[in-house]
Amino acid sequence: MSLKNDILTLLQLNNDTYISGQQLAERFGKSRAAVWKAIKALQKDGYIINAVTNRGYLLTDSGDILNSAKIKAKMKHKIHVIHYKELDSTNTQAKRLINSGDAGETLLITADRQSAGRGRQGKSFYSPEGTGIYMSLIVHPNTLLQNAVTTTTAAAVAVCRAIEELSDIKPKIKWVNDVYVENQKICGILTEAVSDFELGIATSVIVGIGINIRTNDFPKEVINAGALNADIKRADLIAAVADALLNIIGGEYKTFIDYYRSHSMIIGKKINYIENGKVTPAEAISIDETGGLVVKTADGAEKTLKSGDISIRW
Ligand code: BTN
Repeated sequence: MSLKNDILTLLQLNNDTYISGQQLAERFGKSRAAVWKAIKALQKDGYIINAVTNRGYLLTDSGDILNSAKIKAKMKHKIHVIHYKELDSTNTQAKRLINSGDAGETLLITADRQSAGRGRQGKSFYSPEGTGIYMSLIVHPNTLLQNAVTTTTAAAVAVCRAIEELSDIKPKIKWVNDVYVENQKICGILTEAVSDFELGIATSVIVGIGINIRTNDFPKEVINAGALNADIKRADLIAAVADALLNIIGGEYKTFIDYYRSHSMIIGKKINYIENGKVTPAEAISIDETGGLVVKTADGAEKTLKSGDISIRW
């Protein structure tokens, strides 16, 4: 780590207490001039650091700046975090790290912006700088592929729990795992598995989550998207989502399916579901014990959808 990052980590941990230039210099084995230069660089990055003669330095507000140390410090689960200023896609980077053998443990990847954010079904995910969070959690469940599917449902639950923890907003889930606020999609989740086909095992699962906090200038092809528009700091939301997900990931459906059901925005609604390219009108009846969507079609027949895409007929 650079001196700047070392000092930042210490100032973040040193809540409400001034730390002198001399102490910082001794702690990191550098000159006081080097410490002063690092403090200036942090202030230039946007950190509000009080500098008081005979007392030293105090970080009063780190604004909405993101970095690995800050996210880690806010998380209850102690895992590796790598933050990038820019990536093509946090999910793509996650795959690269898995393939190169650099993601052996649970790892969280975040970015300030994505130049090629990916959504489901080959769609893109609009990811401008600073107004949303873009994160991918890599876990290694080594479980049967069919069991890894719980992750998709768990991720939507984690996002809703985190939003409720940090605000008064009441998010809703559109099956399978889109999160909505006031009928606008504010979060997309892309879960990808790296598997051992011969054993039928998911060796790694990448849970990619994008949440629009203040993004409102969507490109015209992005339909029905919105933002939380809440006073939530990105680091707080990333940490809350990651912790909530790590609390339930790999667990059984029964530990979170009731929460998922209570947040569903489609039960009792008229929907269209798409299967093998065919659009079928139906009514959404319930969510079963494994997150499947039970629908009733026009002829009165009931069937359970395990995955796929639906739209609500308003
Ligand atoms: C969807 O709504 O279709 C899913 C969107 C998933 C977007 C997130 S942002 C972080 C991660 N990196 C990506 O490229 N995609 C996911």
